[in-house]
Amino acid sequence: MTATAKSTPADVSVPPRDIHFDVDAAKQGHWLGGDPVGTAIFNALSLTFPDGERLFIDAVRHYRNEVSGKLAEDVKGFIAQEAIHSREHHHLNQLIDRERYPVATIEQLIRDRVTFARSRGPMRMLIATIALEHFTAMMADAHARHQDLFDNADPGIERMWRWHAMEETEHKAVAYDVFIHVTRDWSPIKRYLRRTITMAMISYLFTRNITHYASLLLEADGYSRKDAIKAVKRYVWKTPGLFTRNAKTYLAWYRPGFHPWDEDNRALVATWKAEFDADVAPREAATV
Ligand SMILES: [Fe+2]
Ligand SMILES: [Fe+2]
Repeated sequence: MTATAKSTPADVSVPPRDIHFDVDAAKQGHWLGGDPVGTAIFNALSLTFPDGERLFIDAVRHYRNEVSGKLAEDVKGFIAQEAIHSREHHHLNQLIDRERYPVATIEQLIRDRVTFARSRGPMRMLIATIALEHFTAMMADAHARHQDLFDNADPGIERMWRWHAMEETEHKAVAYDVFIHVTRDWSPIKRYLRRTITMAMISYLFTRNITHYASLLLEADGYSRKDAIKAVKRYVWKTPGLFTRNAKTYLAWYRPGFHPWDEDNRALVATWKAEFDADVAPREAATV
C-alpha cells in the first residue's frame, strides 16, 4: 500500500463567489420540472447543507494553523465558499412551505446528527468531512455530466445548484489535503483504514438519511409512506440514479493512494466557472 504523494494541482484556486440567488420558486413547491420526487430529494439535500457545511468549516478550521502556503490559501477559500453555500441553502430552505412540509422536523433530525458528529472530536469530524466532500464532489460531477437531471427546473434554483456543483468540484480536495497533511505521521494503512471505514459508514448513513428526509417531504405531498420510500429509492438508486450514476468516482475512494484530483474533471465545469467568475468580476473590479 502506498501513501498518496499527490495534492491539488497548483493552478486550482478556491475563490469565494459571493452571489445571491433568486430561489423564490422554492415557495411554490415542485420547482424541479413539476416533479415532486426530484424536488423532495434536492430539498432534502438542501436542508442538510447549512448545518452540514458549517461542520465541514469547523472541521477544517480546527487544523488551519497546521498548514501553510498554497494549502492555507485554499483552506481560506474553502471556508469562505462553504459559508456562502450554507447561507444560500439556508435562504432556499426558509422559502419551503413549512405549513405543508415537515421542514422543522427534518431540520431537528439533521441538527441531532450534526451535534453527534461534533461530539466525536476534531479528527473524526475531519474524516467525516473528507468522506462527505467526496460524496458532494461525486454528485457535482454527476450533475455536470448529466445535465438532464435539472431539465425544466426553475432557472434560479438550477443556477444555484450549478454554482454549488462547480465550487464543490473546485474545492473537492481541500479538506482531503488537510487530512493528508495532519496525519503525515500515521502509517499508510492506518490512514487508509480510517478513511475507508468512515466512508462505508457515511455512505450508509447519508443515503439512508436523505431517503428518510425526502420521503417525509413526499408524504406531505400525499404519498403513502411506502410509496414515498419506493419513489425516493428509485430516484437515487435507479432512475436517474443520483447516487449510482457515478459509481466509478465513488469507488475510487477505496483505492490505496487515492486523491480527489486523480480524476481531473475541471474541463467539465469550465463553462460554469467562467460564467460565475464573470458574475463576480465587475464587483471585484469596483472594490479595487
Ligand atoms: Fe458546499
Ligand atoms: Fe464542499
